[in-house]
Amino acid sequence: MRDQTLKSERLLLRPPRAGDADDVYRNISDWDVIRMIARPPWPYPRELADEFVRTAEALMIEFENQVIGAIGIADRSFGGNLGFWLGKRHWGKGLMTEAARLLVAAYFENRGDVSLHSSYLVDNTASWRVQEKLGFIEVGSCTLHINSRGADLPGTRTLLTRTAFKAKSA
Ligand SMILES: CC(C)(COP(=O)(O)OP(=O)(O)OC[C@H]1O[C@@H](n2cnc3c(N)ncnc32)[C@H](O)[C@@H]1OP(=O)(O)O)[C@@H](O)C(=O)NCCC(=O)NCCS
Repeated sequence: MRDQTLKSERLLLRPPRAGDADDVYRNISDWDVIRMIARPPWPYPRELADEFVRTAEALMIEFENQVIGAIGIADRSFGGNLGFWLGKRHWGKGLMTEAARLLVAAYFENRGDVSLHSSYLVDNTASWRVQEKLGFIEVGSCTLHINSRGADLPGTRTLLTRTAFKAKSA
């Protein structure tokens, strides 16, 4: 998945490069981003951005020639799991919905899987709304460990079937 390059009207999704670390750091090193995602610590050390572009199972989201966030589908024991984040100054323009549609379309096209998993913290309405627009449904409650808060917090597990995605995209 790290090898893909995908294009939509406004966005390029492409593999990370070492030179992306500054953009990654600028966009992710923000409490409002970090507090909603599982793994990154707070404060976010600059070196982690270098590690992220070297190792993350994710594609960079490029908008107007700058990396503004990342999106990926990680292979988990239960199947593919969608995760994403975007720098705050780019929120509210439909960009993550556009990125997620692009990646998920490629996922269903290239893989035999009939469904895709994700989750969100119960107070993360923006994440749920992005997922809902793709056709995800809520399938149950869960606990999500958020490293930056050192806490297990209430979340919701979600599921997108190939059929629901096709229906929403039609
Ligand atoms: C979640 C996130 C990626 C959304 O990115 P985005 O580009 O702003 O998303 P979009 O603009 O495509 O869609 C957001 C939707 O949520 C809605 N929304 C945003 N904040 C909302 C809120 N507080 N209450 C209700 N709806 C909200 C927007 O109106 C929009 O819906 P609409 O198209 O029906 O108007 C971004 O907020 C982010 O990176 N947050 C921090 C990291 C994160 O939460 N990652 C996901 C972890 S599960």
